[in-house]
Amino acid sequence: MRVAILISGRGSNMVSLIEAARAPDFPAEIVLVLSNRPEAGGLAHAAAAGIPARAVDHRAYPDRAAFDAALQAELEAARVDLVCLAGFMRIFTPGFVEAWAGRMLNIHPSLLPLFRGTHTHEQALAAGVRLHGCTVHFVVPELDAGPIVAQAAVPVMPGDHPVALAARVIVEEHRLYPAALALVAGGRARLAEGRVMFAADVP
Ligand code: GRF
Repeated sequence: MRVAILISGRGSNMVSLIEAARAPDFPAEIVLVLSNRPEAGGLAHAAAAGIPARAVDHRAYPDRAAFDAALQAELEAARVDLVCLAGFMRIFTPGFVEAWAGRMLNIHPSLLPLFRGTHTHEQALAAGVRLHGCTVHFVVPELDAGPIVAQAAVPVMPGDHPVALAARVIVEEHRLYPAALALVAGGRARLAEGRVMFAADVP
């Protein structure tokens, strides 16, 4: 399965996916990295790993539809089957999300459905939860609301700080995303009628 990773920043989750996909038995190949920000640090890491890495600068397009069309053209040219969002900070048009329904994953730094949006570690501390974590989900038009493929939890420590909590969560992100991608790319988890069907659910 041919996978593209979309980033906007440092790309540490992207690196974890690229490294996992190097294993000979991994069911996906990372064929393209795209960033909407030319200055994203992750682009250099991808290029260093030998993955074609390009910026599609959203500021160069008049509206979201034109930007999404440019992304779509890149993805089609690379014959991409599956898209992984990894710190990608742009909202898509519903048409783009629809085109990739069941074929686009995102990682979010909270135990969804808690704490959608940004500043999730601050949100978790403000809510006083004792468990926090990360989620890989299929992307649907509503932000951070798609069917869940996999989650990992970490404890919230007494006196915790958002930076310390984020550092604890990202370690789990780097384990979780490759595992979730392997499930989906290997056909062991798929989107069916709005929910995730796992291989074990099939009689
Ligand atoms: C991660 O915490 C991810 O869950 C969130 O944005 C952050 C991206 O970090 N969506 P990185 O660019 O993968 O290092």
